Amino acid sequence: MKNIQIILCCFFVCIGFSQNKVKNANVEKEVNNLLSKMSLDEKIGQLNLRGTSSRVKGSLPEELKQAVRDGKVGAFLNVMNTDYVDELQRIATTESPNKIPLIFARDVIHGFKTIFPIPLGLAASWNPEIVETSSRVAAVEASSSGIRWTFAPMLDIARDSRWGRIAESPGEDPYLASQLSSAYIKGFQGEDLKDPTSMIACAKHFIGYGAAVGGRDYNTAIINKELLQNVYLPPFKAAFDAGSQTVMTSFNETNGIPASGDKKLLQDILRDQMKFDGFVVSDWNSVIEMIAHGYAKDNKHAAERGLHAGLNMEMTSTAYENHVKELLKEGKISEKEINSLVVDILRVKFRMGLFKNPNRDKNHTGKLYAKEHLELAKKAAIESSVLLKNKKNILPLKKNKSIAVIGPLADKPREQLGTWTFDGDKNHSVTPVNTFKQEKVDFNFIEALDFSRDTSTKKFQKAIATAKKSDVIVFIGGEEAILSGEAHSRANINLPGIQEKLIKELAKTGKSIVLVIMAGRPITLSNIIDDVDAVLMTWHPGTMGGPAIYDMLFGNKEPQGRLPVTWPKVVGQLPLYYNHKNTGRPASKDEYVHIDDIPVGAWQSSLGNTSHYLDAGYTPHFPFGYGLGYTTFSYKNIKLSSNKLSDSKSIEVEVTVKNTGSRDGVELVQLYVQDVVGSITRPVKELKGFQKIVLKAKEEKQVKFTISVDDLKYYNNDLFYGVEKGDFNVWIGSNAASGLKSSFVYE
Ligand code: GLC
Repeated sequence: MKNIQIILCCFFVCIGFSQNKVKNANVEKEVNNLLSKMSLDEKIGQLNLRGTSSRVKGSLPEELKQAVRDGKVGAFLNVMNTDYVDELQRIATTESPNKIPLIFARDVIHGFKTIFPIPLGLAASWNPEIVETSSRVAAVEASSSGIRWTFAPMLDIARDSRWGRIAESPGEDPYLASQLSSAYIKGFQGEDLKDPTSMIACAKHFIGYGAAVGGRDYNTAIINKELLQNVYLPPFKAAFDAGSQTVMTSFNETNGIPASGDKKLLQDILRDQMKFDGFVVSDWNSVIEMIAHGYAKDNKHAAERGLHAGLNMEMTSTAYENHVKELLKEGKISEKEINSLVVDILRVKFRMGLFKNPNRDKNHTGKLYAKEHLELAKKAAIESSVLLKNKKNILPLKKNKSIAVIGPLADKPREQLGTWTFDGDKNHSVTPVNTFKQEKVDFNFIEALDFSRDTSTKKFQKAIATAKKSDVIVFIGGEEAILSGEAHSRANINLPGIQEKLIKELAKTGKSIVLVIMAGRPITLSNIIDDVDAVLMTWHPGTMGGPAIYDMLFGNKEPQGRLPVTWPKVVGQLPLYYNHKNTGRPASKDEYVHIDDIPVGAWQSSLGNTSHYLDAGYTPHFPFGYGLGYTTFSYKNIKLSSNKLSDSKSIEVEVTVKNTGSRDGVELVQLYVQDVVGSITRPVKELKGFQKIVLKAKEEKQVKFTISVDDLKYYNNDLFYGVEKGDFNVWIGSNAASGLKSSFVYE
């Protein structure tokens, strides 16, 4: 770039920077000017996120309107009647003492009316662009109802598929989760927070919710410093770097302190280390849940804990509303602390332009279910679906085959939307059976099980008879939506009910079986994997699940998803994740003896003394990053630009990837690095990059990654953030368990 261009570039960057500074200074001036006029009641009001049942029928309760008129509410959640939104905002901005606008919030997690795949499915797309565009669609649709704050993205790293909320998570890897986190924020918030279609995002749940012991929701998390800094915080850092305006504390305690009362977490880490300057909202009643945790003796003490910790806004419980004045009078909190909490909230409201433009734009229709929204939902479902098995390339199916469609999720429009879809409408949801009919597929459908947990065999014979008359069976099963999501952890994660039994009966017909799974988590398949010829995991695929599944089964599109979580053979292996530590006795095939191969009377020390299960080994069923397509790829010639990395000199790593199959295809090329020796032990490998490429049949391409020192930095237990000199291994491949290996030295 010529010097003049560099000068101009710097000039414009400086202009932008200084404009931002001026803008921020103006906002701070407006915030402090307003604060100076507010009564204590109004300040307390801003800290109050009032829950309302979205089914409020008839007219708005007078007490609610009066609370707003008195400036005692800062925001609402779940006000789904737009007349109520308009009326409450009118009262707030024309009748309350300082006319402070309200923010209206909703859980718009993976779509509003047009529902996209569940977030774990979107994570399987490994495509930040589709995450951003689907979040933008969600914001456009939801903001038409006056919703300008979504309680999303959920950024909890999840390593245990028993946990019901893994369905909402970005998976097990901090690097992938961080790429998606930025995309969610950009999608929800858009280019300008003042844009009426912008919804402020809420990075949640801060922090460590996914580390709940045993995958039991709401349960205890024990996370040491290096895990917190290197695994659980990075997606939140990405969210704040992308400008997330709010963050939500989690229900759980971490290391003995419930998040809503954790000052070190909310002040030292969130504000001081991560430079977050929005506001913090508690999760539902989590302030007063500090009593049950045993961290507060009563509501007043809980309020004191939250206020001291720096929790700005209390969701649904009223400990702040009822006790701040007493705490002030008793000198247990200061007005300075209250002011600081209020300022953060006012700052966001000014940034949203709500003081100038508080009202819902009645001409903004949200383009609900617009053609382009539905097409994007279908694309997302295809890019999220993971082909786990395809024996003898039974997929794609030939159109002239007669198909027996069997299973409890083949025609369930509501179930395929998945968890956290309060506003999804099953009447717009297109099921696989709907689509097969529309596409005039030669098929017979028999549900055989009324719902995923059904244990009745009464329709088995009819299903078997239908299968016998057909060329191939497409079994569409999995979990109803209610079996994952909040409070819905499972101790067993196999196919619920007697789906396995039915599959085994169907397998006796000798017909090939294509298993299509709709579920909110990986499902253990060991009992039936040999009975089916293909397995397609579609997660809960959303509104356009049917057309997406049709396109994939018949080869119009290939499934493009890759696993964002490790897929266990049996539930007893959990928690199970690829970026684990090596231990002093790493498992290996040379050392491992399967339980059935142990000689009777074997001497105690005759087995391999390494880290494995006698009955389940040490490998997953399918590794992180795994997924098949409708063609095959080879990797060769891994090359490094140098095997010496330095602070000033990054390394280029490249590999040649070839489409060795007979049809064009998509491959997700993944880069993993291992820091062999550190001042603390380091994971056996960590994802450091990925590229989705499209290759024509027989085409080959050089795929390059750059590795710099910054890519390798980590925190040790002394919170040193950096890289130690030493040896590194690098892999490029198609999942965490394979790839071409090389190495370099950082010196
Ligand atoms: C729920 C969830 C949280 C959600 C909130 C509001 O309990 O934990 O993710 O945003 O309450 O619905």
